[in-house]
Amino acid sequence: MELYIDTASLDEIKQAHDLGVLDGVTTNPSLIAKEGVDYTKRLAEICEVVSGPVSAEVIAVDYDGMIREGRDRAKIAENIVVKLPSTLAGLRACKTLSDEGTRTNLTLCFQPLQAMLVAKAGAFLVSPFIGRLDDIAQDGMTLIQEIRQIYDNFGYPTKLLAASIRHPMHVVQCALAGADVATVPFDVIKKMLNHPLTDSGLEKFVADYKKAFG
Ligand code: E4P
Repeated sequence: MELYIDTASLDEIKQAHDLGVLDGVTTNPSLIAKEGVDYTKRLAEICEVVSGPVSAEVIAVDYDGMIREGRDRAKIAENIVVKLPSTLAGLRACKTLSDEGTRTNLTLCFQPLQAMLVAKAGAFLVSPFIGRLDDIAQDGMTLIQEIRQIYDNFGYPTKLLAASIRHPMHVVQCALAGADVATVPFDVIKKMLNHPLTDSGLEKFVADYKKAFG
């Protein structure tokens, strides 16, 4: 499974990149707002660090605005993927931009039929949000399994990108369910390496060695 980082923090992106595990980046307007930086400038900075897909979301909610912003974002770097909402206007913009050769990521996907339609419109990625479904007592992981099954049934090439991931078990379950990509906040990436037996085992190895040899 590919691993993207879900952040607009350049520092976090650089740290994850240095770990050698990073395949791409997803950003969204809320993440950019949190950083308080210019969206275009930050995307260009991210694309200098990461050569894999970097998702750049549009702010517009109408078709014309999405196309205008999408074309602008696509000019920033070759690895930009234009992120569009899974709405009627987003679907139409997905078709137009995909036909122009621009890769798209259809976001805010909460039910399997959105995923089926965006695949038909040529989306490169679809982003089902697990955590936000779990938050309202719906099973986010069921959505991942249903999309996987539909994409496999019909051979849709759109990559299933599991988003809104909150903890390491989400990542385990996504990998088991066959998600192509998981986009994960940096604090969760770090937790993926945690195990108390690793820590206590390491402590003992070092202590035993020091006891014997000083
Ligand atoms: C995905 O591309 C989104 O940026 C993200 O995963 C949303 O996660 P949240 O529900 O934690 O805000």
